[in-house]
Amino acid sequence: MQVALAEKDRQEQAAARGRPVRGALTHQPVRDGDCALCHLPHASDSAHLMANPSVIDACGACHDWSKHSNHPMGPKATDSRNRNLTIDCLSCHRSHGTGYRYLMPFPTSTDLCVQCHKRFTR
Ligand code: HEC
Ligand code: HEC
Ligand code: HEC
Ligand code: HEC
Repeated sequence: MQVALAEKDRQEQAAARGRPVRGALTHQPVRDGDCALCHLPHASDSAHLMANPSVIDACGACHDWSKHSNHPMGPKATDSRNRNLTIDCLSCHRSHGTGYRYLMPFPTSTDLCVQCHKRFTR
């Protein structure tokens, strides 16, 4: 436990400097080297050689996300940061890990939410 906490601290500090490192906060299938669970290593019709063109379906293969989030997702929810994107799992998570908990690109969920919900910025 002590080791895990020290490791987490190390990774969060690295993440704060913009340099995520591999370790306990890396997404488990990535840490295990199971790249082919998500990517087709040789060729695929999808960006990033993804095996599944839908991010929501790809993540949903292992996660029952409907339990955790009823946040709008899919074609009707446009990402206010980039009008070409719609909201999916990668609007709030990075699939390999970031050094922060929950594969989040920011240290707290508040930091994450206000990226798009700017009027709640404090
Ligand atoms: C759980 C699914 C998943 C696993 C497992 C996974 N990836 Fe990815 N990978 C993604 C997704 C989704 C993206 C798109 C960008 C993102 O989420 O950061 C991506 C992006 C990438 C990219 C594009 C560059 C980048 O970092 O954005 C490379 C290269 C890559 N992955 C390599 C790997 C390798 C090598 C492994 C195994 C060690 C691996 N991936 C395991 C889902 C996965
Ligand atoms: C609007 C932002 C947002 C979107 C979109 C989102 N998440 Fe999350 N997710 C979070 C936050 C924030 C947490 C941290 C824990 C919490 O507050 O519930 C989290 C936690 C999680 C967890 C770990 C905790 C748990 O409940 O199991 C998993 C797994 C997860 N998300 C998967 C997904 C998947 C898969 C998708 C896409 C289908 C997705 N998330 C879409 C924000 C989001
Ligand atoms: C092949 C199965 C698999 C796929 C596909 C997969 N995950 Fe995971 N994920 C796991 C496992 C295993 C864990 C670690 C155990 C757990 O927390 O449920 C995990 C953990 C997580 C966590 C919690 C991390 C934490 O710090 O607590 C989040 C968030 C998450 N995954 C998001 C995603 C997202 C987003 C995608 C799609 C890009 C995805 N996962 C695709 C297997 C998968
Ligand atoms: C990538 C951009 C983005 C992020 C990050 C984001 N949201 Fe949203 N959120 C949206 C969009 C787009 C909508 C739907 C359109 C609207 O009403 O603004 C929405 C709608 C909502 C709604 C209204 C839900 C409904 O059913 O009408 C709530 C509540 C919400 N978000 C909370 C959160 C929370 C909490 C977080 C952080 C965990 C978060 N959002 C992160 C873009 C985002």
